[in-house]
Amino acid sequence: MRRKMVAGNWKMNNTPAEAVAFANSIKANINTDKTDVVLCVPYVALDAVKNELAGTHISVAAQNMHYEKSGAYTGEISGEMLVAMGIPYALIGHSERRQYYNETDETVNKKVQKALALGLKPILCVGESLEERKKEVTNELLRQQTNHALFGVSAEDVLKVVIAYEPIWAIGTGVVASPKQAEDACAYIRGVLAQKYCTDTASKVTILYGGSVDDENAAELFGQPNIDGGLVGGASLKPTFADVVKAGLPK
Ligand code: PGA
Repeated sequence: MRRKMVAGNWKMNNTPAEAVAFANSIKANINTDKTDVVLCVPYVALDAVKNELAGTHISVAAQNMHYEKSGAYTGEISGEMLVAMGIPYALIGHSERRQYYNETDETVNKKVQKALALGLKPILCVGESLEERKKEVTNELLRQQTNHALFGVSAEDVLKVVIAYEPIWAIGTGVVASPKQAEDACAYIRGVLAQKYCTDTASKVTILYGGSVDDENAAELFGQPNIDGGLVGGASLKPTFADVVKAGLPK
């Protein structure tokens, strides 16, 4: 049985003080070890939020990382730096990074490989644009993105990767994928993993849905057989995030 996971992606929101106050309210409202809860926090607040959540079952993730250890990469943060801070997860390949910061399948793969080598668990994002969905190339795109991102990743290591299916047209738009659309895509990704590895390995990988998830639609989405929880943006900044987490509790 796969565990559910609910990850909140705060994006570029919350100063360190705001982040700590919000993490404090989250820990008061979410007290469960039955579902994995991860907060993807801006770099500058990671340490403070991690300390605030010490002793709870809620963990933190960086929203990105560089694949080089150190060097002349102004403005970047390496995986080694995150590991030194005790950060367990890193979001990799979010569509906003692919869209605005030149993230490619190749850099995503380098980051995934580097994270795994360091013992950092990648939350790998894949997903199609509206144009790609209209052209009916969604599956092909998901296959390409997944295979590229996992190039060189062993069957043992892929079990440490969380994959988030996030259709770009659903991110921040309020237009959530239907449970069937989300399930079909997550099942397809699992099929790609089965082909690349084997059915048993594929059946153990956590696959999330993301894109306009909120407290009202989460339960039905998370109830689909191939959806193991969600990557939640806007709704993770609200008190109702606790209700989204509750939707991920075992029934
Ligand atoms: P959203 O964002 O929930 O605000 O659509 C999801 C994401 O970008 O991870």
